[in-house]
Amino acid sequence: MGFNTIAVHGGIKDESKKAINPPVYLSSTFIQPDTETEGEYCYSRGNNPTRASVEDLAASLEGARFAIATSSGMAATSLVFELIKEGEKILINNNVYGGTWRFVSNLFENRGLDYEIVDDFNTYDLEKSNAKLVFIETPSNPLLEVTDIRRVCDLAHKKNMLVVVDNTFMTSYLQRPLELGADIVVYSATKYYGGHSDILAGLILLNDEALYERFRFLRNTLGGILSPFDSFLLMRGMRTLALRMDKQQENAKNLPSFLKAMTGRTEYTIRD
Ligand SMILES: Cc1ncc(COP(=O)(O)O)c(C=O)c1O
Repeated sequence: MGFNTIAVHGGIKDESKKAINPPVYLSSTFIQPDTETEGEYCYSRGNNPTRASVEDLAASLEGARFAIATSSGMAATSLVFELIKEGEKILINNNVYGGTWRFVSNLFENRGLDYEIVDDFNTYDLEKSNAKLVFIETPSNPLLEVTDIRRVCDLAHKKNMLVVVDNTFMTSYLQRPLELGADIVVYSATKYYGGHSDILAGLILLNDEALYERFRFLRNTLGGILSPFDSFLLMRGMRTLALRMDKQQENAKNLPSFLKAMTGRTEYTIRD
């Protein structure tokens, strides 16, 4: 199936009623099969059918085995940083989103974690580093600096580092970091995935089952889940992702000539 077909038809359906969209399961708790057996859904912090549906759609679009939906992009990034233990270090590009930088610069030291800011991962000698995890945001927010994901993954994996890519600005429609070797992808789904400026949401995508179970444990423990209603809205936004991304690119290409006509300035250039 092509990207748009998955976007429109993907996600877990309600087979009992044949509805083409998932119901919004506004239920904190679910009846269990019997006193000895825990059902698939028990308590919505752990699992919820509407959230499971949007996770299924996100995983299909990314070509990933697993997805975790969180209450915001920062909730997703926070879960990733929970993987770092005291005394361990991460490498992070210098032009990351301000909230990510706020986390690293304010909370790492208290937790006994270390970080190194990398000016340019495209030339950085990863093989000399002893970091545990590499966090790259590409293109970066706000300067749209681009990192060669495949290069970073090839070098980082020689040193057994985990590579995490914040793919918020591209989405799975334009860039799939897992296919380029990344271990984990994070999103602020508040942006292009949601697409309507009416929710905050985050996503983590990955293929490794043990890491997925770890993230499920961490999300259930820390509580930063995506609500059933926001899961429904996120899914509705994702249905039209490609249409909006195409239009967005068309607008961006028209912007220099529009600004030129408005201001009479000529020095606007388009970077590919
Ligand atoms: C690249 C990037 N990553 C992460 C975030 C954090 O996402 P949220 O605002 O959904 O917490 C943002 C927010 O602007 C962002 O631009």
